[in-house]
Amino acid sequence: MAAEEAVNLAELRDPQHDKDRVINPRWVIILGVCTHLGCVPIADAGDFGGYYCPCHGSHYDASGRIRKGPAPLNLEAPFYEFTEEDVVIAELCLRSSLEYVFF
Ligand code: FES
Repeated sequence: MAAEEAVNLAELRDPQHDKDRVINPRWVIILGVCTHLGCVPIADAGDFGGYYCPCHGSHYDASGRIRKGPAPLNLEAPFYEFTEEDVVIAELCLRSSLEYVFF
């Protein structure tokens, strides 16, 4: 995750620092729904070593930030907290170019 922390925010379409998305680098908790039209990105793929959406070619980095392709926003990083070392409670809110959906 050192590479993601070093990214210049001015280069990002949806500027967000990695530290604002990842509490514990051992766990990256993001919603696997492309913010373009809602397909499921493939993990450990794409030009930035993160996620690749095969539907229309969006590339996300390992922090889930959009780096290339038509998706307008980063993959959603929900509010979450660790209640125990390996127990996470997350609140989901899906952002996309189409609508907002709250769970
Ligand atoms: S739905 Fe992912 S790039 Fe279009």
